[in-house]
Amino acid sequence: MSYFKIQQIGKVRIEEDSCFIELSKHYSPGLRHLQFFNYIFVLWWISMRDTSKDRSQVLAHPPNLDVEVETGVFACRSPARPNPIGLTKVKVLKIEGNKIFIDRIDAIDGTPVLDIKPYLPGDSVPIDEIKLPEWFDHLKDKK
Ligand SMILES: C[S@@+](CC[C@H](N)C(=O)[O-])C[C@H]1O[C@@H](n2cnc3c(N)ncnc32)[C@H](O)[C@@H]1O
Repeated sequence: MSYFKIQQIGKVRIEEDSCFIELSKHYSPGLRHLQFFNYIFVLWWISMRDTSKDRSQVLAHPPNLDVEVETGVFACRSPARPNPIGLTKVKVLKIEGNKIFIDRIDAIDGTPVLDIKPYLPGDSVPIDEIKLPEWFDHLKDKK
């Protein structure tokens, strides 16, 4: 087994009427030209699920389904996984200093942010080309 070093570059901040990523000052220069993009991928640490029990999970039950399915952890977005890495595509609203204001994110306040990458045209796939298992049928209309 190999181990790799990952460092936190900032954190998610959820306030009453705004949501933003607060980058550590050291990494602020890394935001240069990000204002030319309007969607980004945020990679974050699912910090409250960083436990030996959650990390040992290889099967999971995707939540909010009409049917009960036990699926492989790599076939779902379970927060309990060997490496608790969260990935969310978000819309950038504005950038002020070391803060990237975004429309929403499914991470809680204070969640460590690991990386940010611009969303590019090659990242999207037309909906009718996406193959999904039947228990995710309800996601087909989701943008
Ligand atoms: C199912 S995970 C999926 C995350 C990401 N969209 C992905 O696909 O990798 C999202 C859920 O993780 C939970 N969550 C958010 N931030 C968390 C944190 N820091 N630690 C543990 N759980 C968290 C919330 O309940 C949220 O609804």
